[in-house]
Amino acid sequence: MIKNIGTLKIETDRLILRKFELRDAEDMFHNWANDDDVTKYMTWTSHQDINVTKYVLSSWIDQYGADNYYRWCIESKETGQVIGGIDVVQIIEDLDCCEIGYCLSKRYWNKGIMTEALIAVENFLFDKVSFRRIQACHDTKNPASGKVMIKSGMQYEGIRRQAGKNNTGEFCDLATYAILRSDWQKD
Ligand SMILES: CC(C)(COP(=O)(O)OP(=O)(O)OC[C@H]1O[C@@H](n2cnc3c(N)ncnc32)[C@H](O)[C@@H]1OP(=O)(O)O)[C@@H](O)C(=O)NCCC(=O)NCCS
Repeated sequence: MIKNIGTLKIETDRLILRKFELRDAEDMFHNWANDDDVTKYMTWTSHQDINVTKYVLSSWIDQYGADNYYRWCIESKETGQVIGGIDVVQIIEDLDCCEIGYCLSKRYWNKGIMTEALIAVENFLFDKVSFRRIQACHDTKNPASGKVMIKSGMQYEGIRRQAGKNNTGEFCDLATYAILRSDWQKD
């Protein structure tokens, strides 16, 4: 059974994963929320105005009171900038299972950053919360995300056809991946 403890700070070699704060609005807006290249395969569209970012941030911050709410901002130790986010988008309580989502500022792509963040979040969710299964999926047109899942120890489980909708309202096929507690314990 899982024991929810909420979003606690996690540190890795290059990153600090912590709760979002309202002061992160500038970084979030300029580094990723306003960038169509970043949101292309997300379910939400780019923010056109920083007030949208502030509104979204306050709704996230309001939810930190719940012990089953897991949403980290990704802060670069090198630059001190907030460069992305990683969160639990769904918990399936009776299966001790959760699903992860993430996004990162384009300037930081292809440096292994999201892989580093996802491994740290998997460790936290298995070790501290006792999940049995952690899953993730991506639009089949977005293979870089699948690379992150594989490099973080997840296994490819196949394609769910037309199981998602992208931010233009079109249906899309989802490639799905997961890591089990038993896979994680082998490492
Ligand atoms: C997907 C995303 C999180 C990857 O983060 P990242 O920090 O760049 O990931 P990593 O550097 O750990 O790994 C990326 C891998 O994808 C590969 N890659 C990059 N572009 C690719 C492409 N077009 N096709 C195939 N592989 C690609 C990289 O070479 C790298 O693999 P490698 O280490 O084997 O060389 C980031 O690109 C992003 O935020 N994209 C926009 C938001 C998004 O798509 N979120 C996920 C929604 S499911």
